[in-house]
Amino acid sequence: MAVERTFVMIKPDAVKRGLVGEIIARFERKGLKIKALKMKWLTREEAEKLYEVHRGKPFFEELVEFITSGPVVAMILEGDSAVEVVRLMIGPTDGRKAPPGTIRGDFALDIGANVIHASDSKESFEREYKVFFSDNEIVGDY
Ligand code: TYD
Repeated sequence: MAVERTFVMIKPDAVKRGLVGEIIARFERKGLKIKALKMKWLTREEAEKLYEVHRGKPFFEELVEFITSGPVVAMILEGDSAVEVVRLMIGPTDGRKAPPGTIRGDFALDIGANVIHASDSKESFEREYKVFFSDNEIVGDY
């Protein structure tokens, strides 16, 4: 068993639609543990840092505009194989192609406004969570 952490962010579209509780409930029911949780309205600088791997891509500007268009809810989740498990739970990027049963499959109909972000690797987690959290905001074992 490989206990891992991953970073998840509920995007402004989902916060505005009142889906925060519904989405967090899915992770809790799955057995993932919430280790940190925060609501935040990102600045442009923070958004560009979070998505720095996409700088220069055609959708980058639109992505930064969207992610700063309202508050987001960010969290660190912990559990066995958390990175892979949460990626499976959120589904593929394009909400129109995401299978029913996944979060994007059930709640998104767009590739940009796609409800949720989750780290795609341990390395992404290490980079991304630091945009939102300092290490002393991660709770101990419970
Ligand atoms: P990406 O890391 O490829 O997807 P994922 O969120 O599934 O890890 O892209 C990051 C975000 O950029 C994606 O959630 C939505 C946005 N995006 C677009 O708006 N258009 C696109 O063509 C792609 C690939 C991504």
